[in-house]
Amino acid sequence: MYTLLLTLHSLVRWLVVIAAVVAVIHAWTGWLGKRPWTSLADRLGLIFTVAMDVQLLLGVILYFISPLIQGAFADFGQAMATSGVRFFAVEHVALMIVAVIVAHVGRTLAKRAQTGEAKYKRAALLFTLAVVLVLVAIPWQARPLFRLG
Ligand code: HEM
Repeated sequence: MYTLLLTLHSLVRWLVVIAAVVAVIHAWTGWLGKRPWTSLADRLGLIFTVAMDVQLLLGVILYFISPLIQGAFADFGQAMATSGVRFFAVEHVALMIVAVIVAHVGRTLAKRAQTGEAKYKRAALLFTLAVVLVLVAIPWQARPLFRLG
């Protein structure tokens, strides 16, 4: 169960990154190119936020069953002094939760804006912030790029 969830969480990261990059590029080109808002733009934001939600769900379950996190809570002081453990127990989780919130706020504010330009602008700025947080918080070097079980 743990290995399956860790593998899924590792692979779904690519869906998140790809969906984020596509949504960000579409929003920026829409804003700067003064394109009218379309249902595609809305759908790309939806796909990005859903991918984030799936990853959040997998992450929360992992947090409760991961031997790494259980070890961290067994001796929290020691865990905070060990950067590799502190990263997963605190930093990864905190940054990713903020990223999920920012992505959702971006989609909601884009939907609520009155003009196409304002919609693209809000999506562009907030999705960019969300993807920067995600890219910073992914353990690119500590873990495999493609975990296959
Ligand atoms: C939403 C965007 C997120 C992305 C893109 C992401 C990505 C990743 C990646 C790539 C790994 C390394 C997987 C591996 O070892 O191959 C990882 C590990 C982990 N993630 Fe996330 N994560 C996200 C959110 C979260 C959240 C919100 C939580 C918890 C609430 C979480 C909890 C964990 C834990 C506990 C591990 C380490 C598990 C272990 O090694 O036992 N993640 N994450």
